[in-house]
Amino acid sequence: FSKLLCEHSRQRLHVVAKFPVLSQLLPVVVTVLLTLAAAYYIYIPLPDAIQEPWKLMLLDAGFRATMKVVRNLRWLGLGHFIEAIRSSTENMENLGEVLVGSESGWGVKPGVRVSDTTFDGVPVRVYEPPAGGEGHLRRAVMFFHGGGWALGSAKKGSYDAITQLMSDELDAVVVSVEYRMYPEVLFPQPYLDCLSAAKHFLSQEVLVRYSVDPERVAVSGDSAGGNLAAAIAQQISTDDSMSRKFSVQALIYPVLQALDFNTPSYEQNQGVPILYRTLMIQFWLQYLGADPSLLPQLLANNHSSLHQSAITPELRARVDWTVLLPPKYKKNHKPVVVETGLEGLVKEVPGLLDVRAAPLLAGPEILAKCPRAYILTCEYDVLRDDGFMYARRLQDAGVTVTSDHYDDGFHGCLSFSFWPTHFDVGKRALRGYFSWLQKNL
Ligand SMILES: *[C@@H]1O[C@H](CO)[C@@H](O)[C@H](O)[C@H]1NC(C)=O
Repeated sequence: FSKLLCEHSRQRLHVVAKFPVLSQLLPVVVTVLLTLAAAYYIYIPLPDAIQEPWKLMLLDAGFRATMKVVRNLRWLGLGHFIEAIRSSTENMENLGEVLVGSESGWGVKPGVRVSDTTFDGVPVRVYEPPAGGEGHLRRAVMFFHGGGWALGSAKKGSYDAITQLMSDELDAVVVSVEYRMYPEVLFPQPYLDCLSAAKHFLSQEVLVRYSVDPERVAVSGDSAGGNLAAAIAQQISTDDSMSRKFSVQALIYPVLQALDFNTPSYEQNQGVPILYRTLMIQFWLQYLGADPSLLPQLLANNHSSLHQSAITPELRARVDWTVLLPPKYKKNHKPVVVETGLEGLVKEVPGLLDVRAAPLLAGPEILAKCPRAYILTCEYDVLRDDGFMYARRLQDAGVTVTSDHYDDGFHGCLSFSFWPTHFDVGKRALRGYFSWLQKNL
């Protein structure tokens, strides 16, 4: 093809030299070449099952280009990496809002009252459906947004739209928590912010103030927010001083463990946008306040080598996908277990073994007390097996679990249910999530 192109342009140039008026054709050639270069940058091989692949490639190319620009800015000392990424992703979402022509987010529901307040000092956005008359109690959802404990906002873009829609469709009070994130704070602060907000919301006085039925309060979140939701659900369930608990938990492609970055889903989907395997590990290192240069060690599972005596066989069994995954998903994958690895890493980064950061590590006695669960997983997601393993362990502990798996789903697809970055699978997954809450909350 390129030979043909060369041949073609040689002829053109020949002609151009002969007839200056034909020099107008030169821009056409340049355009073709630029288009080819752009296609080369945008194209990434994707699994066949992913629908609307070009849309995902474009989205990913935008994300990669943004990351590159930000890295260069940082290299030039012109701003902080994550701060800049955060504002540029927000700008991307804001652009969507401008295109749609709505000021306060997508899919605004006029019946829903939106207000910003604080719960025990933690900023939250509260969505309230119209009051249903004297004595009418409503359902409620406490929601934690995703973004690798570093990106995203309850108040912006798709999160604002999802929670607003949820409030409207479920006739529920939705509280979306604006917990602090990296680089401002590190683990356990984001978790503690969420816990403070949850305890405040579940107090008698606050539930009454919002006319919420105390028997029907869910905790939910996606990705890193799913991690926080699972961890908070465990903590509240086992806290005897709390008389009100969450009645259900709904986890959307949650992050649940940091000991094995070579599960079949981490291996299968390491190059699938937008949550690449290395990006997820970088998020973990940032969250836990660890040295970013540890990335290659974590990729190799050197941090959870057999020599790390702090990781007991009991703990290992809790993340053992060879036992916990349905056989269909093990395929030909082999577990990556390193003999010696990196000495003392777990001591250096204690968050790796902390159940508040890695809820999959909790013991069966804790899981047994957890509320009924909905766990949404996507086939093309490094975190698929985190979700599968947690579903299995909760079930083994006697908890009722609904697993909702999307064979053509990719990480983050729920956030892409709105124009102009909407995907059919994102809309279906959002429907599945809402309909489970509709029936089970
Ligand atoms: C992992 O640890 C082994 C020692 O067990 C070491 O030889 C290897 O280089 C380490 N891998 C990386 C990526 O650092």
